Formats: sequence, structure tokens, C-alpha cells
Amino acid sequence: MGKRSQWTFFGVALLLVLLVLAGCARKPPQAEAPKPSAPAATKPSAPPAPAAQPAGLTPEQIEKAKKIWTDRCEGCHGPTRAGATGPALLPETHGGAKDEMLINTITDGREGTAMPAFKDRLSADEIKLMVQFIKTVPPDKPPTWGIEEIEGSRKVYLTKDQLPKKPQHKHRIENIFFVVERDVSKGAFIDGDTFEVIKEVPFGFAIHEIEYTHDGRFGYTVARNGQVVKFDLYALDAVAEARVCLNARGVAVSDDAKYVIVGCYFPFQMVILSGEDLKPLKVVPARGANPDGKEVDSRVAAVAWSGKHKVFLAALKEAGQIWIVEPKEPDFPVTKLEKAGRVLHDFFFDESGDYWMGAAQQSGAIVVVDVKNRTIAASIPTGKQPHPGIGAFWRLKDGRQVAGTVHIGEGKLTIWEVPTWKVVGERV
Ligand code: HEC
Repeated sequence: MGKRSQWTFFGVALLLVLLVLAGCARKPPQAEAPKPSAPAATKPSAPPAPAAQPAGLTPEQIEKAKKIWTDRCEGCHGPTRAGATGPALLPETHGGAKDEMLINTITDGREGTAMPAFKDRLSADEIKLMVQFIKTVPPDKPPTWGIEEIEGSRKVYLTKDQLPKKPQHKHRIENIFFVVERDVSKGAFIDGDTFEVIKEVPFGFAIHEIEYTHDGRFGYTVARNGQVVKFDLYALDAVAEARVCLNARGVAVSDDAKYVIVGCYFPFQMVILSGEDLKPLKVVPARGANPDGKEVDSRVAAVAWSGKHKVFLAALKEAGQIWIVEPKEPDFPVTKLEKAGRVLHDFFFDESGDYWMGAAQQSGAIVVVDVKNRTIAASIPTGKQPHPGIGAFWRLKDGRQVAGTVHIGEGKLTIWEVPTWKVVGERV
């Protein structure tokens, strides 16, 4: 593929990211409150996972909630509350969600989804009880989601031999958008020339990220319920799918399309899959010493593929560590960079591809990973809760490279120079 078309794909990919974000942000009014399945930008104060608060419920109340669960919720949200048609509802996934959002959802249901309204079947007190139950009471048997469960959920729709040799439709491949229809658990392929909705596809609850293969033919979506779908732009359909965790955030694919990595919020793990058919190859528990030296389970925030250095990168949110995964070696060894910062979030590469820069939100800093030398190159104090999103870097007239971030904690834009890591500008 020529340079130009690569850029086209990059452009498309960028737009898609924006569309995904737009999709995330488009929520029904009752879902306005921050919740685990909302984009990071709208949940600045989400508490560090797992921190299940001690339940303020009496044993009788817990028994009652369990009964309601079995009678009315289990069918869609699963007996261990790990999710099925509906998302997982656990202290780990919803401990930080706003009561109001949960109460409204259970009371009125969610229009256009399978979530029914319970206002005629449960009293207001029973609904409040269910909310406290979801937020604070762990399931009797903690749900696990390992290789076996992933493999059990996996479906292959098109094997290598069944893949079409040429596009099965008249639309221009390089001009097809994938748009997330978050609240109806769907995505839609849209023709970028005619704006026609070509097809809607059920790719999971709240699709959060999409990554494309280098040749632009295949895409991988990851939904908040942990469902990963590989789709083919020739067939305009799913190639394979698997549920890789109960709550997922990000996906990255190696440039040879052999490997896919998924960063999970719950269980605390990252999962390496075959890029061809999503066969699970390795589950890596995300646990490590946080900046205070305490061993913690950690959500996995950003994941990325370094095309230049041929490694996967992952940012462990609560552990404050950067993990570098070697896909070329057997068993996918991990190099761990500790004490990168507190509450890691979004990351992006600089122009050279040598540096991976991202938010350490609670440190009020941007941390810089030197991917080539496998070190933390810098920690740049920028402001309260930096949130770079997909990031931005550019060149000044004098040729210097700079990059910037905005913040959630204050209305501030901070710009620093690459690679001296000096702050060169601020706008409040
Ligand atoms: C017929 C299936 C079904 C049943 C029964 C059901 N749910 Fe749901 N529920 C869903 C689906 C599907 C969603 C996701 C809706 C969406 O796409 O926004 C959902 C979403 C939710 C959410 C919002 C989660 C989030 O992160 O946005 C809560 C809370 C919830 N359900 C609680 C319950 C409770 C409590 C019960 C039992 C009293 C219950 N549900 C019964 C299908 C169901």
C-alpha cells in the first residue's frame, strides 16, 4: 500500500475514533451520569476500581436482593452478575456509578434496548435496594473470565478459506465508516460517498474502540461488555467474535495482523488473541506494585501497538505501570516499567514513534515512555487531571515538535516540546 492510501486510512481511522467517541457521548438523558460504560471524559471522578465499599445492607436485605436478582435480573445479567444480554453489574464495574443513573435505568428501563422498566413490578425501595446490592455486594462466587470462558464464547463465521477474494458490494472500501450506535448495542457501516447506511451489525454493548489492520481491510471492535468482533470490509460482516472479559476498554492490533491485545477493566487482565480468528493465546493478570509500593489489581487503560518497535504497550491504571509486551517471542514476555505515575489513562505516540506519551491523571502529569530504551523518559507536570484523548502533536514554524493536552480538573491547555519535555506554552 502506498504512503498516500495509508494516510487515507489513518484519516479514516481518526474519524472513526471521533465517531466512536461521539457515539459514546450520545446517551439517553437518564444515562447522563458517569458510569463505567461511559467514556472516560465524562467520568473524571470514577474511583479507582475494585474498592467495593462494605455493604451497608443487612443480611435480610441482601437475601431479598438476591431473590429479586434470581427472579427478575439473572436472565439477562447472568447468575454470577457477570453479564449476558445485559452488561455485568458488579461492585467492580458499577461501584463508582451514580445512584441516580442506576435508579432511573431500573425504574424506566432503556428505550430501544432489552432493559425493561421495573416501575410497575418493584417498589421504589426495592429499586434502591437493588442499586446498593449491585454497587456494594460482591457475588457469592467471584466471576472469572479466563482462556476457557473466552474460548467457550468464541465463534468463527468466516475461516481463512471462506473469506471473499474481492469486495462483495459496490461501496468504496476506503470510504466506509463504522459508526457506533451505543444505546442499541449496534454498529453501522455507512457509505462515506452517499451517506447511505449500508448495514447495521450487533457488535456488543457500548462499542468503545475500533482498530484496523495495516492494509485497512479488517477491523476489530471492542465493546464495554468485553465482546471483541473482527469484521471484514469485503464481506461487510463479522469474521469472528469472542467475549474476552466482562468489562473492556481498548484494543490494539500488530501491523502483521497476527496478534490482537485487549485491555480489560474487569477482570483485571489483558488478553492476547490471534488476529486471524480471535483464538485466545494468553491472559495476563494485571497486578503490580502501585507508586506507593502496594500490590494492587489494576484496570488496563490504554493499549497500543508500536509499529516502529514492534511491541504492544499497555498502561495499568491503578498500578501506575507501563507494560511492554513482546509478541515475537514465545509466551509473550512483559517488561514492566514501575512508578510511571498515578491513575494512568489515555496515551499517544509522538511523530517519531519512539515516545508514548500519556496522562497520569492523579499526578497531574504527562508521562513519557521511551519505547526504544524501555524507560520512563520524563514526567511533565501539566495541570489537574490531564486528558489528552487521542492526543495532538505538531511542528512549530521553527521546526520544533510540540504536543499538547487539555485537562478535566481545570480549563487549561498545556503544550510541551518533544523531546526536551519542557513546557513551552499554557492557555487557561
Ligand atoms: C430482558 C433483559 C433484561 C432484564 C430482565 C434486565 N436487564 Fe438490565 N439491562 C439489559 C440490557 C440489554 C442493558 C443494556 C442497555 C443499554 O444498551 O443501554 C441493561 C442495563 C442495565 C443497567 C445499566 C447498566 C449500565 O452500565 O448502563 C442496570 C443498572 C440494569 N440493567 C439493572 C437491571 C436490574 C436490577 C434488573 C432486574 C431487576 C435488570 N436489569 C433486568 C437487559 C435486561
